[in-house]
Amino acid sequence: MNRISPLRAALFALPLLTIALPAAADSGEDMVEANCKACHDSSVYTRENRRVKDIAGLQKQVRRCEQSLGLTWFDEDVDAVVNYLNVNYYKF
Ligand code: HEC
Repeated sequence: MNRISPLRAALFALPLLTIALPAAADSGEDMVEANCKACHDSSVYTRENRRVKDIAGLQKQVRRCEQSLGLTWFDEDVDAVVNYLNVNYYKF
């Protein structure tokens, strides 16, 4: 049986990783900038009577808005956006 040395395996995997990483590292900020400004700007996140009261509510609302756009985000994408909105606006 032919065995691939760990070094060769690493050298082979390296370029694949550098290609895959930037795509996986789409930040919550980029995703909001690219997708979430058609209906409302960031002022809804800070308005006086904002509807979202906790993290669970924020997750639900982001999912709702994302789906109304017809997007099919993974949970990780929703989490990244929830985290971005929480750190910058909601601060739960
Ligand atoms: C199709 C139109 C539309 C798009 C696009 C949209 N939203 Fe919304 N969003 C709404 C509406 C409508 C509300 C409710 C506003 C209200 O209650 O006055 C809302 C409210 C919200 C709230 C709650 C604000 C509060 O009161 O606390 C969050 C958070 C939110 N959107 C996030 C997002 C995110 C993240 C995206 C991008 C994935 C997005 N929205 C894109 C329509 C949209």
